[in-house]
Amino acid sequence: MCGIIGYSGKREAAEVLLEGLRNLEYRGYDSAGIALFTQTGLKTYKAQGRLSQLEALLGDRLPDGQCGIGHTRWATHGAPSDVNAHPHASGKVTLVHNGILENYMDLKEILLNKGRIFTSQTDTEVIAQWLDEEYGKTPDPMAAICRTLKVLRGSYALGILFADHPGALYAVRKDSPLIVGLGQGENFIASDVTAILPYTRDYLLMEENEIAVVTPERAGLFTQDGQPFTREASHADWDISAAQKGGYAHFMRKEIDEQPHALEATLSPRLTGESIDFSADGVEDAFLSDFRSIQIVACGTAMHAGLIGKHLIESLARIPVSVNIASEYRYSNPIVGRDDLVIIVSQSGETADTLAALRLAKACGARTLAIVNVVGSSIAREAERVLYTYAGPEIAVASTKAFSVQMAMFYLLALRIASLSGTLSAKAAAVYVEKLKKLPRMVEDTLKAAGSCKEAVSDLVNASDLFYIGRGLDNCLCMEGSLKLKEISYLHSESYAAGELKHGAISLITEKVPVIAVATQPELLEKMVSNMREVKARGGFVLALCRAGSVIPEDAADRVIYLPDSVEEDLFAPLAAIVPLQLIAYEIAVLRGCDVDKPRNLAKSVTVE
Ligand code: AGP
Repeated sequence: MCGIIGYSGKREAAEVLLEGLRNLEYRGYDSAGIALFTQTGLKTYKAQGRLSQLEALLGDRLPDGQCGIGHTRWATHGAPSDVNAHPHASGKVTLVHNGILENYMDLKEILLNKGRIFTSQTDTEVIAQWLDEEYGKTPDPMAAICRTLKVLRGSYALGILFADHPGALYAVRKDSPLIVGLGQGENFIASDVTAILPYTRDYLLMEENEIAVVTPERAGLFTQDGQPFTREASHADWDISAAQKGGYAHFMRKEIDEQPHALEATLSPRLTGESIDFSADGVEDAFLSDFRSIQIVACGTAMHAGLIGKHLIESLARIPVSVNIASEYRYSNPIVGRDDLVIIVSQSGETADTLAALRLAKACGARTLAIVNVVGSSIAREAERVLYTYAGPEIAVASTKAFSVQMAMFYLLALRIASLSGTLSAKAAAVYVEKLKKLPRMVEDTLKAAGSCKEAVSDLVNASDLFYIGRGLDNCLCMEGSLKLKEISYLHSESYAAGELKHGAISLITEKVPVIAVATQPELLEKMVSNMREVKARGGFVLALCRAGSVIPEDAADRVIYLPDSVEEDLFAPLAAIVPLQLIAYEIAVLRGCDVDKPRNLAKSVTVE
């Protein structure tokens, strides 16, 4: 969603801000803007649309100045427009905002009664005006910020400039991530670390209700009452190349190829000898033992990884698992308490619905374990225990490598929980561990066959509707394949449990409607072949995805994609099978001329409810 970058140093701020915004583009946005201290005062430039619109507005000669703030906006209050774009200014105050001000109507009313006039429809302008009002009473930035924070309700990461304090950046964080980047003779603020990677990998994580004051020489942290304090700096392991395309046409394609490496990085630290060990993560065996049930809570792709996790844990450990959509969890009056383990899954660690579900589970006394990719993110910090996936930065909005490592984490967890609960012998666990070690290689082999997916899309690209069918683990994968296709190619698709199709949706199968049938599980193959034939009998076009050696009769499928021989174990087939599904979605999106990495209306990390 919205992105923030701020700079104070000796470089040309406009260049730093634009580069930072480019690195934040992946979060999703509909307008962009910057404000900076120039020789002739504090100037703001903003434009609806892509960054190129803002660059066109700025022209060939960028405004001079060494301190400023920048923002990419994803509209919540007020349509995307030049006026609603950030920064917003009022009197001496200019600011950018990520999040949602919940009581903005009440505050606006008060300000309107004082005779203030608003130019935008945003909640953000209310913050700017309120802060300016406070600043008018006492021209002390810290005092004005502290007083303003007392009235704000909602989520906000703010980057603030005061016209009469050139060179100083102020920042505030509540329920929306913000970091302070630490350089030599220059400092930054940013909504995520990728924005500052070209300059520094050292940063201060801002916690809830903290204020930062940033100048070229100093980056100070303060409590919400303006009391200074210090915090140890964090260091990002990600380097800039991880956040660049490196010769690929799209981040998504690069990230698909990065899956073997991401799997290796996630699996190997937890595979010790013949068993699985989370002690280096601080997740002790007692934490993974003795509970009534497991509840997995997540959104989108992370939720699909949870569905795979349910299947694995239930079949290996025989413990009941429910998978919950995070946005529904809080409103479903969940039966959750101290005897339950709640597993929260999130790539970004900032998804608002998922974070809210975590807070509810904690409040109910449940044990909480987070599977998160972004180190130091809100979910990682708030959960009782965290297992990091090591996928590196995922820039494309469509999640690919994060899904694979989330699945990998569920393999590890399911096997460890099964060992602890006594449903898996040490000998059987050791056999699985050996197989786990081969998974990165298996995915690498699958990627080598990418050409067959490219060929297959010619049959699908002109469709207006497409169906995915599968059973068991394959059914979970179908949901993910369908989501991938929808979000990046805008081609309507639906995922159906293969046996459920005939209970209604089969009425939509007519001449040439494509159906992707995922059939990687040998014991379900026969049933899947029957379901494929049902589709064929109605004139549909069947593309089957199955294991090497599977026999698919000619009258059941029009085209077959085979996984490589190295997919030996039924349970691990999803890690391979997801690759062709990701590639099919990608190739279709490319052929349809879509903006693959930044699909319309979508944001990488959904930080509003
Ligand atoms: C996946 O391709 C989507 N962009 C989306 O469903 C995503 O997985 C979801 O918003 C959850 O995000 P998170 O993992 O960062 O919490």
